[in-house]
Amino acid sequence: MVIINPLIPELLSMKLLLIAGARPNFMKIAPIVRELDRRNDSDVEYKIIHTGQHYDFEMSQAFFDDLEMPKPAYFLDAGSGSHAVQTAKIMTAFEKVCLNEKPDVVVVVGDVNSTLACSIVAKKLLIKVAHVEAGLRSFDQTMPEEINRMVTDSISDYLFVTEKSGVSNLKKEGKPAENIHMVGNVMIDNLLYQKQKLENGNHGKFQTLDLKNTLDDHIFLTLHRPSNVDNKETLSGIINALNEISEDTPIIFPIHPRTKKMLDSFDIILSSQIHHMPPLGFSESLFLWKDAICVFTDSGGLQEETTALGIPCFTIRENTERPITIEEGTNKVIGCTEDSILQAFKSLKNDGKKKGKVPELWDGRSAERIAEILIKDLNPEPLHI
Ligand code: UD1
Repeated sequence: MVIINPLIPELLSMKLLLIAGARPNFMKIAPIVRELDRRNDSDVEYKIIHTGQHYDFEMSQAFFDDLEMPKPAYFLDAGSGSHAVQTAKIMTAFEKVCLNEKPDVVVVVGDVNSTLACSIVAKKLLIKVAHVEAGLRSFDQTMPEEINRMVTDSISDYLFVTEKSGVSNLKKEGKPAENIHMVGNVMIDNLLYQKQKLENGNHGKFQTLDLKNTLDDHIFLTLHRPSNVDNKETLSGIINALNEISEDTPIIFPIHPRTKKMLDSFDIILSSQIHHMPPLGFSESLFLWKDAICVFTDSGGLQEETTALGIPCFTIRENTERPITIEEGTNKVIGCTEDSILQAFKSLKNDGKKKGKVPELWDGRSAERIAEILIKDLNPEPLHI
């Protein structure tokens, strides 16, 4: 016989709001959506909320299509602005959504302003917060993302962690062990899924197909962090080095809107061997970097994805919040100067590729673990007697 506790009838079904706002969020939400759909559990309802932090077609809609994400239930239209303006706009709009939807849990991912804004709103309405990719720390509070990570973790009820440094950071900050869940990396769930699709021959329409065919070897580059692109001297030094490297090996460079704006305003010229284009969808950029001799980037996600596929990655930053990619993976943090970038490329040419291994639980099943934990915790088993 099954007895349902009459005191907690509302706990027997569960509503999740999944927050996505900026490009790197979409890749992290997609596997969770796919897992919830696969379970097809009539007691678990979810809705996707798009904050509108990224709004250009290439930065947003292209990703939804590529990642096979259903249309968001709400689009909050936050747009760009200073950090305070953007965060406040998201908070104001998201509060209305929470009051309307009354979710049990708000799931936030990563470290962007949307992550911070929505976690604060939910927590103040006494709604549980689950943070996917908790515990990462660069220990550099000049990065807006570091503030977003610290604040979000400090109020999250579920801390879903991708690597062991995350567990130890959260423990040092005094988080209760029962809130910390090492689940692996949803970015890698998405990567493996999309890689399989490519291997099934799914790249007929890529605009870069011809370009890639004409190049024997190539390097893949992304660059968008304010500390690298908002200062003329720093950006000029980085581009000088990359212009020189491109004479040896051509570079493919999808340009983030922030970087495009800054290159134009500083009059910085790219060499003809840097093949640049507007931002690409997920599968097209994977199609390009998976065969690159190396990747230069300042992104967080690419450091992890290159480690998962064993591609050498040079991170144009002074630090990383993802140390496992250095300790076990193929990533090297090389700094942001012209010399340091040239030196890194020289070492690749002279010493060959850094060997790495895939970190624990980066196996494509993280979303499964996350769903399992949330559903078990929020939806206790009926009593069987
Ligand atoms: C944001 C995240 C960063 C993430 C990056 C990925 C924060 C604090 N930063 O940075 O962690 O790595 O997304 O892309 O949340 N713009 C457009 N079209 C768009 C979006 C932005 O043209 O669709 C332009 C706007 O002029 C805007 C600028 O790009 O001012 C920067 O956008 P913003 O969302 O503020 O931050 P990102 O640099 O994209």
